[in-house]
Amino acid sequence: MFTFLELILATIIVVTIIVSISILWPLIIGAAWSPSSKKVVNKMLKMAEVDSHDVLYDLGSGDGRIVSEAAHKYDAIGIGIEADPLRIFWSRTKLRLLGLNNQTKIIWGDIFSKDLSPATVVTVFLWQKTNEKLKGKLTRELKPGTRVVSYIWTFSGWKPIEVDQEDRIYLYIIGKSDL
Ligand SMILES: C[S@@+](CC[C@H](N)C(=O)[O-])C[C@H]1O[C@@H](n2cnc3c(N)ncnc32)[C@H](O)[C@@H]1O
Repeated sequence: MFTFLELILATIIVVTIIVSISILWPLIIGAAWSPSSKKVVNKMLKMAEVDSHDVLYDLGSGDGRIVSEAAHKYDAIGIGIEADPLRIFWSRTKLRLLGLNNQTKIIWGDIFSKDLSPATVVTVFLWQKTNEKLKGKLTRELKPGTRVVSYIWTFSGWKPIEVDQEDRIYLYIIGKSDL
């Protein structure tokens, strides 16, 4: 049998491992967590003209705020892909509590290993180097006409169709921007 002290120690080790994976893995493969403000989320969805026919993919979905807003406000299908297991748990719980389960899905894993082809809208708030790495995959997998909205960071060499200078939000359209 374990002593009380051993159980406490084991719990501390497990929690430390989960928190480390949660913080370090996303940093290594893409970007740290930093949530978009409500104002920015609204601007991104408006810029992409999201509606009920859309399938929106948020690449690095954090706490699920973009997925949730797309489903709740615009009646779109919202799919989030997220590497951080704690944020997966948090966002899935939030979406369940909001009653958005049927319209949303949060996938655990690396955005670079997931199929993005069903998307009609893609949102990203990552880092510049991650956007650059993502460009080829977006061009290969997304259909012409798919809107890609990026917060803060650009896709170098791609021509934005619309720019919000105040908040640094960029709208790209596959087939028009990726020259
Ligand atoms: C800056 S936050 C943006 C969160 C959310 N999209 C928002 O706008 O509020 C970036 C998120 O992407 C996740 N992330 C970074 N690289 C990733 C990757 N390669 N695959 C999946 N998720 C990733 C991080 O864990 C983090 O939650």
